[in-house]
Amino acid sequence: MTNGPTDLIKEGTTELFVYKNKTSVKGPSIRENTPFYNPAMELNRDVSILVNQWFLNTSAKHVHILDGLAASGIRGIRLAHELSGDFEVSINDRNDQSFALIKQNIEKNQLENISVFQRDLSSLLLGQRYHSIDIDPFGSPVYFFDAAVRSVYNKGIISCTATDTAALCGVFPQVCFRRYAAWPLHGPSMHETGLRILLGCLCREAAKYDRGIEPLLCYTTDHYVRLYVQVNNGKNAANASMAQYCSIPVKDVPLSKESPALVGPLWLGNLQKKTVVQEIRTLMSIKPLNTKHLLWKLLDLLEGEADAPPFFYTINDLSSELKVSPPTMDHIIEQLKNKGFIVAKTHCTPTGFKTNAPLGVVTEVFK
Ligand SMILES: C[S@@+](CC[C@H](N)C(=O)[O-])C[C@H]1O[C@@H](n2cnc3c(N)ncnc32)[C@H](O)[C@@H]1O
Repeated sequence: MTNGPTDLIKEGTTELFVYKNKTSVKGPSIRENTPFYNPAMELNRDVSILVNQWFLNTSAKHVHILDGLAASGIRGIRLAHELSGDFEVSINDRNDQSFALIKQNIEKNQLENISVFQRDLSSLLLGQRYHSIDIDPFGSPVYFFDAAVRSVYNKGIISCTATDTAALCGVFPQVCFRRYAAWPLHGPSMHETGLRILLGCLCREAAKYDRGIEPLLCYTTDHYVRLYVQVNNGKNAANASMAQYCSIPVKDVPLSKESPALVGPLWLGNLQKKTVVQEIRTLMSIKPLNTKHLLWKLLDLLEGEADAPPFFYTINDLSSELKVSPPTMDHIIEQLKNKGFIVAKTHCTPTGFKTNAPLGVVTEVFK
């Protein structure tokens, strides 16, 4: 047992004690013996505040939120402290030191709409139902998908982070196949492919129980993938979701040359619900959040690409393929729009654009 935490930090409007193993605001954190805290995930937690506030605003009933893998408790305690509406929060972590720290942080914030558990997350989910379930593991959330899908109420939300990007993005294809039963793709679209593999896997898990998924807001960064998905009851919802779940030939992913011949199965439907992203942007102007400048850019891109087709071209890869010097992004967007095609920037890379224009038209615009 180590001494108590000495670092008092503030995210949003909430102050908490944490063990600071890392000071940099980028990248993954170090996994040590003390409860985990990564300052680089503040934006990730800020998005949780916004999505759950949107959810509360649209729910007519009392909402029960679970922070299932809580570590210091920062996400759940922030939700309890910073959301408004008719709700309660449960916080869970099976680790002894995390359990003690969560209780200390609840006391510090004098919260009453909150309960704490020290349980294995899967067994907790199998005995209790929730409206909003957050799964923020070390590595992959896949081990909790079955229990989360069974626990979440109709029209409830499952949110999860995956930090096993090396598997999802095709550095270790066999690991991806074992874990997600899908072949990844290592290349320009690898982050979007990884995001779609994770969504596809959740879609498949939900369909077993005649439930469908509707992605509300999903994104990737260099070190993690994050999903917010609504789960809807019924065979029709499940069939509609499964219609978006398939494998595709690698040649259908722009600029990809690598084996295997097939990518996936993965989710080919939308990654965002445009109206939700728009409402969340409005909420962002009301909530005091430290990462607003970054969030603004991210939500702007997510809204822009909400109705765009899957995958994207990158200017650099296209220009080396066509052996021409690259035009500007603004030129490409304007030209494709003028020709009547959908075109949007992607949040996955600053040099990427999505379009429904055929390759011949894209090539023409490029030259
Ligand atoms: C990445 S940390 C969570 C970080 C936290 N959500 C945050 O925003 O800072 C993952 C936590 O999950 C806990 N954990 C891992 N497997 C678990 C399980 N099966 N049941 C409950 N807790 C678990 C670990 O003890 C660890 O504290």
